[in-house]
Amino acid sequence: MKISVKKVSCIGAGYVGGPTMTMMASKCPDLIFNVVDTNRERIESWNNKDLSKLPIFEPGLKALIAKTRNKNLFFSTNIKEAIESADIIFISVNTPTKKKGLGAGKSSDLKWVEASAREVAKYSKGYTIVVEKSTLPVRTAEVIENILNSAETISKTNDVSFSVLSNPEFLSEGTAINDLENPDRILIGGENKEAMIALSNLYKAWVKEEKILFTNIWSSELAKLTSNAFLAQRISSINSISAICEVTGADVKEVSRAIGKDSRIGSKFLDSGPGFGGSCFKKDILNLVYLAEFFGLKEVASFWESVVTINKWHQKRISEIVVKKLFGTVANKKLVILGFAFKANTNDTRESASITICKNLLNEGADLIIYDPKVCPSQIGTDLETNPTTFLEFGKVNVNEDYGRWTFCDNLDNNEVFKNVCAVIILTEWAEFRKVNWKAVRTKMVSPGWVFDSRLIANGKEVKEAGLNLWSLGDGHNN
Ligand code: NAD
Ligand code: UGA
Repeated sequence: MKISVKKVSCIGAGYVGGPTMTMMASKCPDLIFNVVDTNRERIESWNNKDLSKLPIFEPGLKALIAKTRNKNLFFSTNIKEAIESADIIFISVNTPTKKKGLGAGKSSDLKWVEASAREVAKYSKGYTIVVEKSTLPVRTAEVIENILNSAETISKTNDVSFSVLSNPEFLSEGTAINDLENPDRILIGGENKEAMIALSNLYKAWVKEEKILFTNIWSSELAKLTSNAFLAQRISSINSISAICEVTGADVKEVSRAIGKDSRIGSKFLDSGPGFGGSCFKKDILNLVYLAEFFGLKEVASFWESVVTINKWHQKRISEIVVKKLFGTVANKKLVILGFAFKANTNDTRESASITICKNLLNEGADLIIYDPKVCPSQIGTDLETNPTTFLEFGKVNVNEDYGRWTFCDNLDNNEVFKNVCAVIILTEWAEFRKVNWKAVRTKMVSPGWVFDSRLIANGKEVKEAGLNLWSLGDGHNN
């Protein structure tokens, strides 16, 4: 039986739901896409006429929104209507690590997924394909199926029925539009072949058939967690090698280049940096760890947990290097932080290495001047969990000698930014940080001035010629 699809809905208008549905709407102009969210403010931002006010910054997104919004793509808070009318419903809600209760600190908190499934159970009509787009622990589809088949649903009418599929998302923030347009693969896990074909037909509008993989549902759920775990593992591996480079005289950039030439290893995901951030790597690995522990696979659990342990250790290591190089103390010293987002080309700060490193430096009493081209100061305040007294207006002097303060600067051309600063610390690889005029910066800083480059993007020759000390991550010539 061929399943006819005319309307598609998505529950969750976040970093995944928003761009994914926008791409689908642009590729499938004959279908209607409704993206719904409980967060009214977020939906208002998606509907904002001023496209610079969209809730997420993602290169290429504005143009696609302009092409599709209010034509065949609609953002709203009307969850009931979106569910009632849909032939396919994507669940794309957040699945953060559980903060308390059973599995706290490791397993995913599924309360938003459960709430979404209950809404689908309550409002759906006829036959509906329900798609797990969120990243979920293995066997979550079973939970969703249980809810959908609950007494409440069955009591509605007999003609309500569902197929649950897994269709994890592999986009990376900052390159989401390109990733969605040219995916390496589309993974569809499930049991009902007709439903899987109906879902794959959406993608076939622009993705070659050979890139669409069908698997069983548990393989699909596990493949998503495994994919993130493998990617994160590469970063912890190369970051651990950066520490060896620093003490042996090797250079991590050269080591990466050399091993990346081996076609079995490949060159991607070998950039040493301040430690991986983002909302998913840590959470998904911990999920895998929880799963392994649950099934008594202790060695497997500790293998994957070490990826997260190295990441934490590495961030602490960078903070300590800054303090040591600045004569063992940063108390009341001004430090400029370049970059707060967890990577370039996004305004997302979730699990950003900048948060940990800034907190460590504030604990040591440093006065931080933080600049990021896309992250707003209120987000930084939330992330640093500071009350108003630890935030200092730009240009004001910290009169309290016991605690560090942070201040926000909105552009690097401001003459005051580098005034009396002891060190500049590069934490996100924004392109504009490659173009800093170190000679001009040097004239404002105190001597000896330092540049700490955790992203390996500063022009080392220019930094040194300007008369600044340079510490580059994983460079054995630092000493
Ligand atoms: P997000 O926090 O940006 O967005 C989730 C949205 O869901 C929020 O706006 C929230 O208000 C909404 N929501 C929660 N419960 C709801 C409900 N019951 N009804 C309606 N709306 C509800 O999260 P995200 O970054 O988009 O991630 C979503 C999922 O996708 C996660 O499981 C994540 O692991 C996975 N994922 C994320 C990325 C990424 O790059 N961010 C990539 C691949 C997969
Ligand atoms: C990652 C995966 O790359 C996506 O495939 C996946 O869909 C997504 O997680 C998810 O499930 O959420 P994302 O977190 O957006 O995407 O960004 P990445 O490019 O993977 O970067 C993650 C972190 O690793 C960043 O802090 C980045 O700076 C760091 N990184 C990345 C490095 O330190 N070195 C590298 O070589 C690559």
